[in-house]
Amino acid sequence: MEMIKNRSLLSALCEPANSAHTANLAANLAVTNPATGEELGCISTDSEADIYAAIERSAVAQKSWQKTSAKERATILHRWYQLLMDNQADLARIITLEQGKPLAEAEGEVAYGASFIEWFAEEAKRTYGDTIPGHTRDRRLMTIKQPVGVATAITPWNFPIAMITRKAAPALAAGCSFVGKPANQTPLSAYAVVELAYQAGVPKELLQLVIHNSPEVVGQIFCKNEIVRKLSFTGSTRVGRILTAQCAETVKRVSMELGGNAPFIVFDDADIDTAVAGAIASKFRNAGQTCICANRFYIHDAVYDQFIDKFCAAVVQLKVGNGLEPGVTIGPLINHAAKNKVLRLIEAAVAEGARIVTGGNHRDGLFVEPTVLTDVSQTMGIVREEIFGPVAPVIRFSTDEELITMANDTIYGLAAYFYSRDIGRIWTVAEALEYGMVGINEGSISTDVAPFGGIKQSGFGREGAKEGIDEYLEVKYLCFGGIR
Ligand code: SIN
Repeated sequence: MEMIKNRSLLSALCEPANSAHTANLAANLAVTNPATGEELGCISTDSEADIYAAIERSAVAQKSWQKTSAKERATILHRWYQLLMDNQADLARIITLEQGKPLAEAEGEVAYGASFIEWFAEEAKRTYGDTIPGHTRDRRLMTIKQPVGVATAITPWNFPIAMITRKAAPALAAGCSFVGKPANQTPLSAYAVVELAYQAGVPKELLQLVIHNSPEVVGQIFCKNEIVRKLSFTGSTRVGRILTAQCAETVKRVSMELGGNAPFIVFDDADIDTAVAGAIASKFRNAGQTCICANRFYIHDAVYDQFIDKFCAAVVQLKVGNGLEPGVTIGPLINHAAKNKVLRLIEAAVAEGARIVTGGNHRDGLFVEPTVLTDVSQTMGIVREEIFGPVAPVIRFSTDEELITMANDTIYGLAAYFYSRDIGRIWTVAEALEYGMVGINEGSISTDVAPFGGIKQSGFGREGAKEGIDEYLEVKYLCFGGIR
């Protein structure tokens, strides 16, 4: 951690090991570098009582924050945005150290995370209500939008900064307070970004992070607590189901950004070079550890060999290693469970007849070689499950109808991608794909200005864009009577 210049970003780290603070090891959470296994430091965890107290402080802070003007909130958020950009290099290093993604990608994540703060600073000023043409002569009707109240969030390790800002920025912009639980694997980036919020002028009680050795404990407190009015979660469909059920008890507002199983489709009329570039960008971002990564490839018979040759030629150029080393494009996976899952899926696919055309060699530590599998069938685990690793299973298809059936044959509905230059086919396929986001001749679709989210068991609610702030607002209808 000595390479981090702005030491205030590391204020969450425990004091040196011989201090009284670290004497209670059970109350500490060790953070490790997935590229080396080295311990980066530790942070002290919160007790259950601390988490309840944070929620109560949050409720008090929210009451005064909702009275601030949209312009005041926007000004503070703009300062927070600028501080992220000013500290981009340090924040990126922290991400790479605890999460593993290559430094250039981590810098991209800081800018991506900051972009949500900038966007919602602007949207704070545009939470318009409506005036409604009345149904009687003596009444006037309108709606206003008001903050939901205390908002909570549980965020994942794959984007330790961007997933915090994508939720906290609209919450604060709307006039809510925010209590977040970052992933236990990557808390340092989250605490660093929140420290910058305080430096920008966000009151400490308004934006808080809590962490506990058992994420389930925090989830239960957030879901069951009556003061909390909103939970936003990004993570697996399995956990999303549990949290949604737990939130039902207090009938909370819920946003769920859950797992994906993105099809990546190349039609016979596609520009193959563009498709290959999109496939690399979509499949191998963050070593395949994003919810919207291409998970399975469908390539039309007529361009199959051409695509496979060009795709494999690009895949072998990817460089696996420690994300701090120059030129590395594929970092480690987050932990051994993640690596074992990916290796198990490859082994099972090969046992069922799939062929490894590139990659597949053993790597030490948490690294997995970028791998392309052909002769894959629709029923294999590697096609049914979310891989979350740098592996591309490829299936051939010959008709559009067969393709649409296979592409939609999943419980998930987050992102899909396809490549074609026929405008009629583009519309038909875009409308037929049962996904919340569709990349058409484009493999990189994430941006603050567009609504991110899924359908089916990939969840509900949208993040970013004009829709993102509505997740933190209630619509109140006002009926003015007795008008003469
Ligand atoms: C995710 O994987 O959950 C988020 C990916 C993105 O925002 O692009």
